[in-house]
Formats: sequence, C-alpha cells, structure tokens
Amino acid sequence: MYIKNLNINNFRNYRNVDISFNEKVNIIIGNNAQGKTNLLEAIYMTSLGKSFRTARDNEMIMFDNEKASIKAEIKKKNTEINLEINLFQKQKKIIKINGIKLNKNTDILENVYIVVFSPEDLKIVKDGPEKRRNFINRELCQIKPLYYHNLFKYSKLLLQRNAFLKNINIEKYDKNMLDIWNRELVEYGIKLIKERSIFIKKLNAISSIIHKNITNGKEDIELIYENNIYKKTDEITDKNIYLNKLEESIRKDFIRGNTDIGPHKDDIIIKVNNKDIRNYGSQGQQRTAALALKLAEIKFIEEETGETPILLLDDVLSELDAERQKFLINSLKDIQLFITTTDISNFIEKNLPENKIIKICNGTIEKI
Ligand SMILES: Nc1ncnc2c1ncn2[C@@H]1O[C@H](COP(=O)(O)OP(=O)(O)OP(=O)(O)O)[C@@H](O)[C@H]1O
Ligand SMILES: [Mg+2]
Repeated sequence: MYIKNLNINNFRNYRNVDISFNEKVNIIIGNNAQGKTNLLEAIYMTSLGKSFRTARDNEMIMFDNEKASIKAEIKKKNTEINLEINLFQKQKKIIKINGIKLNKNTDILENVYIVVFSPEDLKIVKDGPEKRRNFINRELCQIKPLYYHNLFKYSKLLLQRNAFLKNINIEKYDKNMLDIWNRELVEYGIKLIKERSIFIKKLNAISSIIHKNITNGKEDIELIYENNIYKKTDEITDKNIYLNKLEESIRKDFIRGNTDIGPHKDDIIIKVNNKDIRNYGSQGQQRTAALALKLAEIKFIEEETGETPILLLDDVLSELDAERQKFLINSLKDIQLFITTTDISNFIEKNLPENKIIKICNGTIEKI
C-alpha cells in the first residue's frame, strides 16, 4: 500500500500543507527542528489514529490553536481509502473513513499498516523488557484489533487489582473479591500470552532467515518468548497454573501493592549463536539483531495482511554502517519509503536514485 496525498492543518508546526508522495521513495530533507519527524508523525497517525511519540493527542495541535486535521488518500491493493483525523483541544478526536464517522476510533485499525524505524529501535535489544513489550504490542495492535481490546482490558484490570492490594489489610481482606480480580486477570492475561506466543514464533522463523542473510550465514538468531507463568511444557490455556502462580505470589503482591506476575512482565529472549545477546552481545550484534527484527516486522505484516506496509525511517540511515545501510535498502524494493535526513548523502544518491525530495523549512514545504 502507499499514501498518495496528505493534507495537514494546524498539525505541530504545519499551518496548512498539501503534499503528494512518490509511490516508492520519499526523502524528507531539512535542518534540525524544521518538521521532518512531525511529517512522519502525521503519516503514522493514519495507521493507529495515535502518535508514535506522544500519548496526548492535543500535543500535536499547533500551539495556540483549537483543532488540527490530517487527511490522507491511501492506495491499497484492491481499493483506495480516504482517511480524516480531527484532533481537538477540548474534545475527543473524530475519525472518518471515506467520509463516514467511526463510532469507535479503534475501527481505524486494520486499514493502514505503517512501520517506524528510528534510532530508538536500534536499542531494542539492549534496552529493558518494556521496549520489547511495546514492540510486540504495537505490532499486534496494528493487525489484530481484538488484541488491542484485550490489552486495554488487561491493563485496566491490573490497575484495579493493584489499587485493591494497596488499600486492604493483609490479615483480614475479602478473599472473594480478590478471587474475582484474579479470575478476570487470568482470562485476559491468557489471551495476551497466547497471541504473543504465536507472534514470536512467527517472527522467529522470519527473522532467522533475514539475520542469516545479513551476517552471510555466520550467525543464527533465535527469539524466545519469555513469560513468568508458563513453562515450555505447560499448556497456555491452563487457567489453574496461572491462578496458582497468583496465589503463590500474593504476600509479595500485598507488600509491594502491585502484581508481580503476568504478561505485563513479559520479555523476548534474543539469542545469537545460542548466547543471550540482550546483555552479552556486542553493539554490532545488537544492531544487526534490531535490523533483522524490523525487517521481520515488515514481512510479518505482509504475510498476515497481504498488504505491504509503509516504512518510515526517521534518522536511522546515518546510524547504520555502510554494509547494514545497503542491506536495509536492498531489502526494501517494493515498499513505500519515507526517509528523513539533514542532507542527501552519497549513499542515498547512489542507491536511491528514483525518489521524490521533499524539502522542509520551518513547517513549510519548499519548492525544489
Ligand atoms: N504543537 C506544536 N505546535 C507548533 N510547533 C510544534 C508543536 N510541537 C512541536 N513543534 C515544533 O516542531 C519542531 C520540531 O519538529 P520535528 O521534531 O519534526 O523536527 P525535525 O525536523 O525532525 O528535527 P531533527 O532533525 O532534530 O529530528 C520544533 O521546532 C517544535 O517547536
Ligand atoms: Mg526528527
């Protein structure tokens, strides 16, 4: 799929801009703080109806304005869609698809698929588990609205259970009440664990091929889903295992006022040649693994949805060495690409000759 046109109004530092894009390569060039990432953010909004930088919608409205809008025309394999997102300072956002207002804003999911790759993603292997959980969540939310719903329910239940634990006396509390929280938590927790386990298995298969190619067959990557409830041999559908684990950790949970076990503590073990590289890998190995994961993410979307996602590369090319840059670009032949940069490098000139250059200066597009 690709985005044909974009119109943004009062969005970040853009007053009113209309742009049409190349079906393949778009290079967004400009000095620092001119609006390159802002433009990518506007494009990204069409996939989740949310930003990849902030959880607060009104941050994206131009300072001192009441509302902002993003309109986009997207070409998919067999259809074309018009998307409109209106953000307000004082009310919930309104999303329209082909002119029809959505009842639930989450209905925007499964229309546009976008993958962002920024220097932050290069640290996904080295950083803490939260980054890897976010990666899983972002991916699954994009293609499985039900997962989005289950994650929302689980997170809410977790907050409620934790609030309950904080406010009661450990010696005399309502056991039935806790039992209700536990059962609900287990129900939604299992749904997340099941989806994540399938996802990581698929991602493992895809990334192992990509990783082998990047390392010229020298290294093997393995992704293993790590959760603190089920062992490898356990049946993930078994509620009793989960409930018993919650029981076992109840004293600890009371003392800390939070829940020690569950998918909110999940992680992905990333092994290269059988060694866990989260802590022990070289920086080069960690970056190669991150690159393999990102490329696997694109392939995964293609396999699951039959559509090629749009890829946003925010400042990432300059962070990669020549060999990895080349591998990345060569892997992205049939995809719409947006690359931000402060200057057109020799690499871009040589490897991406057919492109559209979008020059940005202080929230306006300069004619070239
Ligand atoms: N809500 C807003 N209203 C107006 N301007 C905003 C708003 N939010 C951010 N900005 C402005 O947008 C600019 C930053 O834009 P952006 O992050 O897109 O820069 P960039 O071109 O990607 O820069 P870099 O090369 O440093 O990454 C800043 O000058 C900031 O003040
Ligand atoms: Mg930027």
